[in-house]
Amino acid sequence: MTSHEIDTINVDLAGRSYDIHIGIGLLEKAADYIAPLLKRPVTAIVTDDQVAPHFLDSLQRNLEAAGISNTSIVLPAGESTKSFAQLESLLAQLFEAKIERGDTIIALGGGVIGDLTGFAASIFRRGIDFIQVPTTLLAQVDSSVGGKTAINTSYGKNLIGTFHQPKLVLTDMATLDTLSQRQMLAGYAEVVKYGLINDARFFYWLGDNGERMLARDSQALQHAIAVSCRAKAIIVAADEREGGQRALLNLGHTFGHALEAATGYSDRLLHGEGVAMGMVMAFELSARLGLCDDSVAPIVKAHLDRVGLMTRPNQISDADFDAETLLGHMMQDKKVKQGEITFVVAQGIGQACLQSGVPDAMVKDVLEQALADSAH
Ligand SMILES: NC(=O)c1ccc[n+]([C@@H]2O[C@H](COP(=O)([O-])OP(=O)(O)OC[C@H]3O[C@@H](n4cnc5c(N)ncnc54)[C@H](O)[C@@H]3O)[C@@H](O)[C@H]2O)c1
Ligand SMILES: [Zn+2]
Repeated sequence: MTSHEIDTINVDLAGRSYDIHIGIGLLEKAADYIAPLLKRPVTAIVTDDQVAPHFLDSLQRNLEAAGISNTSIVLPAGESTKSFAQLESLLAQLFEAKIERGDTIIALGGGVIGDLTGFAASIFRRGIDFIQVPTTLLAQVDSSVGGKTAINTSYGKNLIGTFHQPKLVLTDMATLDTLSQRQMLAGYAEVVKYGLINDARFFYWLGDNGERMLARDSQALQHAIAVSCRAKAIIVAADEREGGQRALLNLGHTFGHALEAATGYSDRLLHGEGVAMGMVMAFELSARLGLCDDSVAPIVKAHLDRVGLMTRPNQISDADFDAETLLGHMMQDKKVKQGEITFVVAQGIGQACLQSGVPDAMVKDVLEQALADSAH
């Protein structure tokens, strides 16, 4: 495969099926993919003020050349944009632009823009079509696929949202050229996650190629993005609304979310950074449960350390929380059912499974050990 080839992955959901196209330079050819899906050649592009200067122009020019009208709506960058206030503002701007039920909204940006735009699309005039054009690695391998949409409230992250599948995911890897290395690494944690869930071969491939991928070698990137999307597409097709196995995608997330909450969802810890630490803890918990050999968690940690991710909470600046606080945050997680957390654990690399009934004391031990341990 050369980097000029395009990978196409179908998310098989009967009447709501759609394609993910992955390649280089797709933004300049966006209309070729988008036009056939439109009921009327009218779109609204939603993006943020950090993404717009890089990519909005080229998308707009391409759509215009194909006779597709497009209004652009530029929102502030950052997690705080996933709010009721910004949702209301976005909906108002869609009305002002006279977007109709048969028109299409295009989300151009990272997971924040994708989640908010998807939610707006699911409720605007009782639901209109939308397309994902993800521009962060995290969005390209995870958030743009699967139809989960959300905003945050003071009660927690992603607690208000819908399932609303996009009509298309158009992934142009060239957009990653302007992404910071820290954001690349945060997305990389989610890539590793797919290997750890059910694809040991991919985890070992990342051992050999992860650094090449993070250096933005296009062939390595395309392979990793395609493998990740294929893995997510299969899980979503089997369990669209997370009745069961889709929960495996939360590997490392229960621990990670607790760390994100303890750091106030701030710049001190990006989502993917929390997931990296959380995956190490999930394997340590698995070992304590007797599910997984003691030697596995250190292998996972060593890989994440080597590529430059943080793997221990004390690497977060001003880490001033204790195990009790983190446990408290874990109990707030939306995965808690009847006061009990279902953990994603593993029997080995590529052998993740779900486990309930884990004693709080054992979880606390894992947290205490992680807090006490320095990374290296
Ligand atoms: N829906 C899902 O299934 C799902 C899955 C995982 C994560 N999420 C959500 O995704 C969000 C995180 O997404 P994210 O990590 O993409 O964050 P993000 O959207 O905030 O993007 C990170 C930063 O990079 C900037 N940026 C985006 N693309 C860029 C580019 N190409 N060049 C330069 N800068 C660029 C953005 O403006 C932002 O400042 C969270 O809100 C999380 O809850 C959703
Ligand atoms: Zn995640």
